[in-house]
Amino acid sequence: MEEALKPLVERLKKGNVKISLMTGAGISTGAGIPDFRSPKTGLYHNLARLNLPHPEAVFEINYFRENPHAFYTLADELYPGRFLPTKFHFLIRLLQDKKLLRRVYTQNIDALERLSGVLDDYIVEAHGSFARNHCIDCHKPMSIADLRKDMKDKSLKGIPTCRHCKGYVKPDIVFFGESLPRRFFDLWEEEIEEYDVAIVAGTSLTVFPFAMLPSEVSKDCLRVLINKDKCGTFETDPRDSDVVIQDECDKVAELLVDLLGWRDEFDELVEE
Ligand code: OAD
Ligand code: ZN
Repeated sequence: MEEALKPLVERLKKGNVKISLMTGAGISTGAGIPDFRSPKTGLYHNLARLNLPHPEAVFEINYFRENPHAFYTLADELYPGRFLPTKFHFLIRLLQDKKLLRRVYTQNIDALERLSGVLDDYIVEAHGSFARNHCIDCHKPMSIADLRKDMKDKSLKGIPTCRHCKGYVKPDIVFFGESLPRRFFDLWEEEIEEYDVAIVAGTSLTVFPFAMLPSEVSKDCLRVLINKDKCGTFETDPRDSDVVIQDECDKVAELLVDLLGWRDEFDELVEE
């Protein structure tokens, strides 16, 4: 793995690089959050108990309208607050401290990038987050405090309900059938050609448009995939310069830290 990482390490050692990360659920499995599509352990394989017509229905807006219980069962389990950032998240934080980080496009809704100390400005939550909530009918906002209260309210069966129109309220997580945030498209358009290095990690690259990001970077950009499985454009449209590391994100993060001579600073961050 050390040999395969060489082109990346050399570029980072040179300094003056703009790095973008494109991440997914696999960077957070080390925190104890399941990913979606891994056989046996993935969320989509463990949703039988929710009686869904098909697993993805839990994130479909039309299904939610009829049956919000499945989503709220999951939301209760995944709600930010009980999980801590992984080694890989702290590597992103260290890239920020080293002024090498340009942007983190994440599909994750766990907010662990922020918790590791990466600033909002660098983060693009492509699939939204739990930070804000809106009624799906009248679109009025609901505070996190009210949403959490309703989730525990037996008379509402745990379904947050709009104070204005009694419609169901949902966190601003991007469901299938909803569009991604404006910021995602704006930054993609403005910056995608600028990145010198694109690190794609912990994602199966199956959900579009996110999965297109790594194929849109410039020809001079070094593309790096850190994922258990080879996937997406790294398989269908590979480039000669691609670096593909099929291993655990946290393990790769640790090795990178050592190869870059960043061990002390890294350990300090992790222990903070
Ligand atoms: P997936 O579950 O589709 O893919 C996770 C990938 O990470 C798989 O290829 C795993 O093999 C790999 N993986 C898991 N643990 C790993 C580890 N410790 N180290 C390295 N690789 C690991 O998750 P996403 O690609 O993030 O949408 O899924 C994309 C979207 O699909 C999600 O954002 C979600 C879902 O529907 C919404 O919630 C709107
Ligand atoms: Zn309403």
